[in-house]
Amino acid sequence: MVRLEGCKGSVGVFDSGVGGISVLKALVRELPGEDFAFYGDSAHNPYGEKRPEEVLALSQDIVGGLLDSGCKAVVIACNTATSAAAARLREDYPKTPIIGVEPALKPAALSQPNGRVLVLATPLTVRLDKFQRLLRTWEGESHVIAVPCEGLAARIERGDLHAPDLYELLERLVGPYAGSVDAVVLGCTHYPFVREQLEQILGDVPFFDSADGTARQLRRRLAQSHLLSERTSGGKVRFFSSSQDDPAELELYRSFFELA
Ligand code: DGL
Repeated sequence: MVRLEGCKGSVGVFDSGVGGISVLKALVRELPGEDFAFYGDSAHNPYGEKRPEEVLALSQDIVGGLLDSGCKAVVIACNTATSAAAARLREDYPKTPIIGVEPALKPAALSQPNGRVLVLATPLTVRLDKFQRLLRTWEGESHVIAVPCEGLAARIERGDLHAPDLYELLERLVGPYAGSVDAVVLGCTHYPFVREQLEQILGDVPFFDSADGTARQLRRRLAQSHLLSERTSGGKVRFFSSSQDDPAELELYRSFFELA
C-alpha cells in the first residue's frame, strides 16, 4: 500500500514516473500557495504498454494511498491512467476532486482547420475508448494521425535526454512525418521532456500539451469544493516514488522538475 508522510492537505499528483512532473510544474505555477505530493510509479513504468486492468489496479492503489495520507484532491498526471482509471476512481471517491488529463486534440484541431495534426501517445492511450471518442469528435475538423509511441516513455524515464539512442528512437517513431504535419499533440506527459528533440525532426510547427489546462481545471475544482489554500505563495512540493529505495530516483525527479 502506498503511504506518504507529511502530505495532509496536499494535492496528490501521480504518474507512472517522471512524466507527471511536466504537469506538476504547471500546477505549481498556477497555484503556488498549494502543497503538492508527487508520486511517481517508476517501478511499474511503462503504464502505456500494460493491460488496462493492470493500470486500473495500480491507479486504485496509488489514489487510495494518497487519500489515506491526507491528500485533499488528486491529479492523475498521466493520459494512460486517466483513460484506464479516471471514471472508476471518481465512482470510488465521489466527494474528492479527481482531475485527469487528456491529449490536447481540441485546441490543436481548432487551430489547424483542414490541417494535419500528429498525436503522439502511448499504445494503451491510443487503443482505449476515451481516445477513440476524442478522435471521432475532432477528426472532421482536421486530419488526425495518431502514433502509438512504443518504448518512448520508458526511454525518457531513464533520463540522459540527449543521448544518440533517444534521437534514433524518435527518428524511427516520427521521422516519417517530417515536413508533412501542421501541429503536434504531446498526448503523454513524458513527451514534453523531449519537445526540443521532436522539433529538430518535425520542424517549427505548434506543439500542444494539456498541462496548463489541467492546472486551470484544478484551480476551478478546488474553488468549487472550497478547498483552495488561503496562501498565494510558499507551497511545498514533496516527491515520492515506488522506486525510492534507490536514492538516485528522487534526485532524477528533482532534476526533471528543474527541467520542466
Ligand atoms: N506519462 C504517461 C501518460 O501520460 C504514461 C507513460 C507510460 O508509463 O507509458 O500516458
